[in-house]
Amino acid sequence: MKRENLESTAKGMVTDGKGILAADETVGTITKRLETLKIESTEESRRTYREMLLTAPGASEFISGVIMYDETIRQKDSKGTPFPEVLTNLGVIPGIKVDTGAKLLAGSDDEKVTEGLDGLRDRLKEYYGMGARFAKWRAVIRITDTLPSPYCIRVNVHALGRYAALCQEQGLVPIVEPEVLMDGPHSMERCEEVTGEVLYRVFHVFHEQRIALEGMILKPNMIISGKECPRQASVQEVAEATLRCLRRHVPAAVPGIIFLSGGQNDHVATAHLNAINNLTLPKPWKISFSYGRALQDPALEAWHGKKENFNAGQEALYHRAKCNGAASLGKYTEEMEGDLAGTATPAHRAGWHDD
Ligand code: 13P
Repeated sequence: MKRENLESTAKGMVTDGKGILAADETVGTITKRLETLKIESTEESRRTYREMLLTAPGASEFISGVIMYDETIRQKDSKGTPFPEVLTNLGVIPGIKVDTGAKLLAGSDDEKVTEGLDGLRDRLKEYYGMGARFAKWRAVIRITDTLPSPYCIRVNVHALGRYAALCQEQGLVPIVEPEVLMDGPHSMERCEEVTGEVLYRVFHVFHEQRIALEGMILKPNMIISGKECPRQASVQEVAEATLRCLRRHVPAAVPGIIFLSGGQNDHVATAHLNAINNLTLPKPWKISFSYGRALQDPALEAWHGKKENFNAGQEALYHRAKCNGAASLGKYTEEMEGDLAGTATPAHRAGWHDD
């Protein structure tokens, strides 16, 4: 596989003013989300929901790529066009989640390791044939007074390296997602310390495993206070700590950094991205979004599983994509939210977790 193809795909994923829609929840996760809103989860309801997101009119102005789950990449829109082709026709790059989830790490104190390496080469080949041009793998790191353990960090970054090398061999750009969770009472400073250590280990292992940094995208968490921390850092503090940590640990050869939202309120996730892009320190990479919940939640809420709300759901997705597209350029303002300014995440969504 030519390295130039990987580089041009990676650049295309972080085109100015655009980011990635993460719509790759497993059947288990999306079922939980649908059921919270009393929407029955069937193959057809999940297909309809994904069609609503993928075909939202105008959203491709701000969305460069979509991460799908195995079920979705095999599904078709209501006219019978396979979803990867629907996206390609819109100028949006199809992507696929390829990890098989975070499982309990043997011999550890309640930590997890992400699985999915067995048979990965063949799965990547198949996904490439279906039109996917990038992949995603999420490692999960939990903070407590004593965790993460060096053991947990090492096995997870080793797997990220094996995944990234296989993706590049098969012509897919790896999105590398080492997520340090925001769950817990830890401070923003502790989040910065742990995230810095994890990123340091990621790029050390990537050197050993011969990853072409120009052909990958990093998907990190922001540096924020733990959800239960009594002192919540301000937007400006989060922006400064996040950029400081990334500048210390992410090589300039990486073309793009796209954040996960990780359970942040959708407006706050947008404000953070905007503030990071507004800092004057040099940023050698494009900085944008790859949000799941922070892009989808208002759309899911507006749709509520009802045919007559299909357009309202698409408008809600368009709106969040537009706000985040602006934030990726540092041009977002609270006024863009219009009547929705100040809307908080409803309580029933606050605890929604990815696998
Ligand atoms: P959130 O933005 O909801 O954290 O999801 C992003 C993602 O892809 C998690 O793997």
